Amino acid sequence: MKKALYILAGLFILAQFFRPARVVEPVDPAADLIALTHPSAEVEHLLRVACYDCHSGQPRYPWYAYITPVNWWLDRHIKEGREHFDATTWGRVENWSRDHQAKEVMEMMEKKEMPLESYTWTHADAKLDDAQRQLISDFFSSKRDGSWDVEKARRKAAGVLK
Ligand code: HEC
Repeated sequence: MKKALYILAGLFILAQFFRPARVVEPVDPAADLIALTHPSAEVEHLLRVACYDCHSGQPRYPWYAYITPVNWWLDRHIKEGREHFDATTWGRVENWSRDHQAKEVMEMMEKKEMPLESYTWTHADAKLDDAQRQLISDFFSSKRDGSWDVEKARRKAAGVLK
């Protein structure tokens, strides 16, 4: 029993040498969502405390992010999160992509699926109430130009989409 514990502890220590690279990207004022769109102070605050840790190139890493395997778990959230909605590249993508991301954010707010629940265990300030969800949703709604649907119609017409 004791031997098994030593082996486990040894493996845990060894595992600490295997860490994912941290995401630390410079803020590009010409592409960052907040820099470009000037949301109200409250919306900006909500985006920073509830979304940017997984949906931007500037996540704030908590102390436990040093521990393998927690760090791999967080890294996946950031990679997967940014594939769907990325505040850091907001100004660099096509109109239809921005429009689509805005639509998805509104959907997430309505379904209360974001931020991930596990995130709110350690980030109490990211727990959003209905009024805050509405604020975020209204903000993204005001940024929509319908180009996502136009693009969809275009692809449909071209036979790419059924
Ligand atoms: C702890 C990390 C984390 C936080 C914080 C977080 N997200 Fe996400 N988000 C993810 C991950 C991971 C995915 C992709 C997988 C999934 O949909 O669960 C995702 C997916 C999304 C999507 C795409 C959904 C879809 O259907 O494709 C949107 C939009 C989104 N998040 C918006 C937000 C907004 C807005 C906030 C802040 C209010 C937020 N997220 C906070 C991790 C996070």
